[in-house]
Amino acid sequence: MKLNWAERLAVNNPLRPVQQRLEINWYRRRVDLPKGARILEIGCGRGAGSYLIKRAFSPAGCIHAMDLDIGMIRKAGTYLSPEAREGLSFFVADACRLPYRDRAMDAVFGFGVLHHIPDWQGALKEIVRVLEDGGIYFFEELYPALYQNCITRHILLHPRENRFRAEALKRAVAEAGLVMGTYLENPYLGILGYAEKK
Ligand SMILES: C[S@@+](CC[C@H](N)C(=O)[O-])C[C@H]1O[C@@H](n2cnc3c(N)ncnc32)[C@H](O)[C@@H]1O
Repeated sequence: MKLNWAERLAVNNPLRPVQQRLEINWYRRRVDLPKGARILEIGCGRGAGSYLIKRAFSPAGCIHAMDLDIGMIRKAGTYLSPEAREGLSFFVADACRLPYRDRAMDAVFGFGVLHHIPDWQGALKEIVRVLEDGGIYFFEELYPALYQNCITRHILLHPRENRFRAEALKRAVAEAGLVMGTYLENPYLGILGYAEKK
Protein backbone atom coordinates (compact mmCIF):
# COMPACT_ATOMS: atom_id res chain seq x y z
CA MET A 1 0.00 0.00 0.00
CA LYS A 2 1.38 3.44 -0.95
CA LEU A 3 1.89 6.08 1.75
CA ASN A 4 -0.47 9.01 2.22
CA TRP A 5 0.77 12.59 2.70
CA ALA A 6 1.14 12.24 6.50
CA GLU A 7 3.27 9.13 6.37
CA ARG A 8 5.38 10.61 3.57
CA LEU A 9 6.14 13.46 5.94
CA ALA A 10 6.97 10.97 8.69
CA VAL A 11 9.47 8.97 6.61
CA ASN A 12 10.91 11.71 4.41
CA ASN A 13 12.04 13.90 7.30
CA PRO A 14 15.66 14.69 8.21
CA LEU A 15 15.57 12.62 11.41
CA ARG A 16 14.62 9.37 9.71
CA PRO A 17 18.15 8.67 8.33
CA VAL A 18 19.56 9.42 11.80
CA GLN A 19 17.29 6.75 13.26
CA GLN A 20 18.15 4.33 10.42
CA ARG A 21 21.86 4.93 10.92
CA LEU A 22 21.52 3.93 14.60
CA GLU A 23 19.50 0.86 13.64
CA ILE A 24 21.95 -0.25 10.93
CA ASN A 25 24.87 0.25 13.32
CA TRP A 26 23.00 -1.92 15.82
CA TYR A 27 22.70 -4.64 13.13
CA ARG A 28 26.33 -4.22 12.11
CA ARG A 29 27.54 -4.87 15.65
CA ARG A 30 25.67 -8.19 15.68
CA VAL A 31 25.80 -9.56 12.14
CA ASP A 32 28.60 -9.95 9.64
CA LEU A 33 27.61 -10.49 6.00
CA PRO A 34 30.01 -12.27 3.60
CA LYS A 35 32.17 -10.11 1.35
CA GLY A 36 30.25 -9.35 -1.86
CA ALA A 37 26.96 -10.28 -0.17
CA ARG A 38 23.89 -10.00 -2.39
CA ILE A 39 21.62 -7.52 -0.62
CA LEU A 40 18.03 -6.44 -1.28
CA GLU A 41 16.08 -3.68 0.46
CA ILE A 42 12.29 -3.94 0.12
CA GLY A 43 10.14 -0.80 0.50
CA CYS A 44 13.26 1.34 0.22
CA GLY A 45 11.36 4.65 -0.01
CA ARG A 46 13.68 7.49 -1.03
CA GLY A 47 16.78 5.29 -0.57
CA ALA A 48 18.28 6.76 2.59
CA GLY A 49 18.44 3.30 4.18
CA SER A 50 19.92 1.66 1.06
CA TYR A 51 22.82 4.11 1.13
CA LEU A 52 23.44 3.44 4.84
CA ILE A 53 23.22 -0.34 4.30
CA LYS A 54 25.80 -0.07 1.50
CA ARG A 55 28.18 1.93 3.69
CA ALA A 56 27.85 -0.45 6.63
CA PHE A 57 27.74 -3.83 4.92
CA SER A 58 28.96 -3.66 1.35
CA PRO A 59 30.92 -0.51 0.46
CA ALA A 60 32.16 -2.00 -2.82
CA GLY A 61 29.12 -4.13 -3.63
CA CYS A 62 25.71 -3.62 -5.17
CA ILE A 63 22.47 -3.18 -3.25
CA HIS A 64 19.16 -3.89 -4.97
CA ALA A 65 16.49 -1.50 -3.67
CA MET A 66 12.81 -1.69 -4.58
CA ASP A 67 9.54 0.00 -3.73
CA LEU A 68 5.93 -0.38 -4.83
CA ASP A 69 5.63 3.37 -5.33
CA ILE A 70 7.30 4.83 -8.41
CA GLY A 71 7.13 8.27 -6.72
CA MET A 72 9.47 7.00 -3.99
CA ILE A 73 11.88 5.50 -6.52
CA ARG A 74 11.92 8.82 -8.42
CA LYS A 75 12.63 10.58 -5.13
CA ALA A 76 15.70 8.37 -4.60
CA GLY A 77 17.03 9.84 -7.86
CA THR A 78 16.98 13.35 -6.43
CA TYR A 79 17.47 12.74 -2.69
CA LEU A 80 20.76 10.85 -3.12
CA SER A 81 23.74 12.39 -4.86
CA PRO A 82 25.19 10.54 -7.90
CA GLU A 83 28.11 9.40 -5.68
CA ALA A 84 25.73 8.10 -3.01
CA ARG A 85 23.73 6.24 -5.70
CA GLU A 86 26.81 4.37 -6.91
CA GLY A 87 26.32 0.66 -6.32
CA LEU A 88 22.59 1.10 -5.65
CA SER A 89 20.10 -0.28 -8.14
CA PHE A 90 16.55 1.07 -7.68
CA PHE A 91 13.42 -0.40 -9.25
CA VAL A 92 9.64 -0.64 -8.81
CA ALA A 93 8.18 -3.97 -7.67
CA ASP A 94 5.82 -5.59 -5.19
CA ALA A 95 7.37 -7.34 -2.18
CA CYS A 96 4.70 -10.03 -2.61
CA ARG A 97 6.16 -10.92 -6.04
CA LEU A 98 9.90 -10.41 -5.91
CA PRO A 99 11.52 -10.67 -9.37
CA TYR A 100 14.29 -13.03 -8.26
CA ARG A 101 14.97 -16.72 -8.46
CA ASP A 102 15.02 -18.76 -5.24
CA ARG A 103 18.02 -18.14 -2.92
CA ALA A 104 19.24 -15.13 -4.93
CA MET A 105 20.01 -12.96 -1.87
CA ASP A 106 22.25 -13.20 1.19
CA ALA A 107 20.33 -10.50 3.04
CA VAL A 108 16.99 -8.72 2.79
CA PHE A 109 16.32 -5.48 4.69
CA GLY A 110 12.86 -4.02 5.35
CA PHE A 111 12.41 -0.82 7.36
CA GLY A 112 8.79 -0.26 8.28
CA VAL A 113 7.42 -2.16 5.28
CA LEU A 114 5.52 -5.33 6.25
CA HIS A 115 2.87 -3.44 8.22
CA HIS A 116 1.98 -1.57 5.01
CA ILE A 117 1.25 -4.77 3.11
CA PRO A 118 -2.24 -6.33 3.25
CA ASP A 119 -0.84 -9.84 2.63
CA TRP A 120 2.25 -9.40 4.81
CA GLN A 121 2.53 -13.16 5.33
CA GLY A 122 2.83 -13.53 1.52
CA ALA A 123 5.62 -10.94 1.47
CA LEU A 124 7.40 -12.78 4.28
CA LYS A 125 7.24 -16.01 2.26
CA GLU A 126 8.72 -14.19 -0.73
CA ILE A 127 11.55 -12.81 1.41
CA VAL A 128 12.36 -16.31 2.66
CA ARG A 129 12.13 -17.74 -0.87
CA VAL A 130 14.74 -15.32 -2.25
CA LEU A 131 17.07 -15.72 0.77
CA GLU A 132 19.99 -18.11 0.60
CA ASP A 133 20.13 -20.77 3.34
CA GLY A 134 21.81 -18.96 6.22
CA GLY A 135 20.70 -15.61 4.75
CA ILE A 136 19.43 -12.86 7.05
CA TYR A 137 16.21 -10.85 7.08
CA PHE A 138 16.71 -7.54 8.89
CA PHE A 139 13.52 -5.76 9.89
CA GLU A 140 12.04 -2.82 11.73
CA GLU A 141 8.27 -3.05 12.16
CA LEU A 142 5.54 -1.13 13.95
CA TYR A 143 2.49 -2.51 15.75
CA PRO A 144 -1.11 -1.22 15.49
CA ALA A 145 -1.07 0.52 18.91
CA LEU A 146 1.31 2.99 17.30
CA TYR A 147 -0.08 3.47 13.80
CA GLN A 148 -3.78 2.61 14.32
CA ASN A 149 -4.65 4.17 17.68
CA CYS A 150 -7.55 6.59 18.13
CA ILE A 151 -5.46 9.47 16.74
CA THR A 152 -3.12 7.94 14.16
CA ARG A 153 -5.84 5.86 12.46
CA HIS A 154 -7.39 9.14 11.23
CA ILE A 155 -4.10 10.54 9.96
CA LEU A 156 -2.09 7.62 8.61
CA LEU A 157 -3.15 5.13 5.95
CA HIS A 158 -2.59 1.41 6.55
CA PRO A 159 -4.46 -1.78 5.73
CA ARG A 160 -7.21 -2.29 8.34
CA GLU A 161 -7.45 -6.10 8.22
CA ASN A 162 -4.92 -8.86 8.93
CA ARG A 163 -2.72 -6.79 11.23
CA PHE A 164 0.12 -8.23 13.30
CA ARG A 165 1.29 -7.58 16.83
CA ALA A 166 4.34 -8.92 18.65
CA GLU A 167 3.33 -12.58 18.96
CA ALA A 168 1.75 -12.92 15.51
CA LEU A 169 4.82 -11.48 13.81
CA LYS A 170 7.23 -13.78 15.62
CA ARG A 171 5.01 -16.79 14.97
CA ALA A 172 4.82 -15.95 11.25
CA VAL A 173 8.59 -15.46 11.10
CA ALA A 174 9.09 -18.94 12.58
CA GLU A 175 6.43 -20.50 10.31
CA ALA A 176 8.11 -18.97 7.26
CA GLY A 177 11.33 -20.84 8.14
CA LEU A 178 13.34 -18.13 9.90
CA VAL A 179 14.99 -18.28 13.29
CA MET A 180 14.86 -15.05 15.28
CA GLY A 181 18.15 -13.49 16.31
CA THR A 182 18.54 -10.72 18.85
CA TYR A 183 15.81 -8.09 18.87
CA LEU A 184 14.75 -4.90 20.60
CA GLU A 185 11.02 -4.70 21.14
CA ASN A 186 8.31 -2.77 22.82
CA PRO A 187 5.45 -5.33 22.60
CA TYR A 188 2.92 -2.53 22.05
CA LEU A 189 4.84 -0.29 19.68
CA GLY A 190 7.26 -2.19 17.45
CA ILE A 191 10.38 -4.25 16.92
CA LEU A 192 13.90 -4.00 15.51
CA GLY A 193 15.46 -7.37 14.84
CA TYR A 194 16.82 -9.94 12.44
CA ALA A 195 16.18 -13.57 11.65
CA GLU A 196 18.18 -16.25 9.83
CA LYS A 197 16.94 -18.69 7.21
CA LYS A 198 17.78 -22.23 8.33
C1 LIG B 1 6.94 3.54 6.05
S1 LIG B 1 7.64 3.56 4.44
C2 LIG B 1 9.33 3.21 4.79
C3 LIG B 1 10.27 3.72 3.74
C4 LIG B 1 11.75 3.47 4.07
N1 LIG B 1 12.01 2.05 4.18
C5 LIG B 1 12.11 4.18 5.35
O1 LIG B 1 12.28 3.50 6.36
O2 LIG B 1 12.22 5.40 5.34
C6 LIG B 1 7.08 2.04 3.70
C7 LIG B 1 7.49 1.88 2.25
O3 LIG B 1 7.06 0.60 1.81
C8 LIG B 1 6.56 0.74 0.49
N2 LIG B 1 5.66 -0.39 0.21
C9 LIG B 1 4.40 -0.57 0.66
N3 LIG B 1 3.90 -1.73 0.19
C10 LIG B 1 4.88 -2.30 -0.55
C11 LIG B 1 4.96 -3.50 -1.30
N4 LIG B 1 3.93 -4.37 -1.38
N5 LIG B 1 6.11 -3.78 -1.95
C12 LIG B 1 7.17 -2.92 -1.88
N6 LIG B 1 7.14 -1.76 -1.20
C13 LIG B 1 6.00 -1.45 -0.54
C14 LIG B 1 5.89 2.09 0.49
O4 LIG B 1 5.72 2.61 -0.81
C15 LIG B 1 6.87 2.92 1.33
O5 LIG B 1 7.86 3.52 0.56
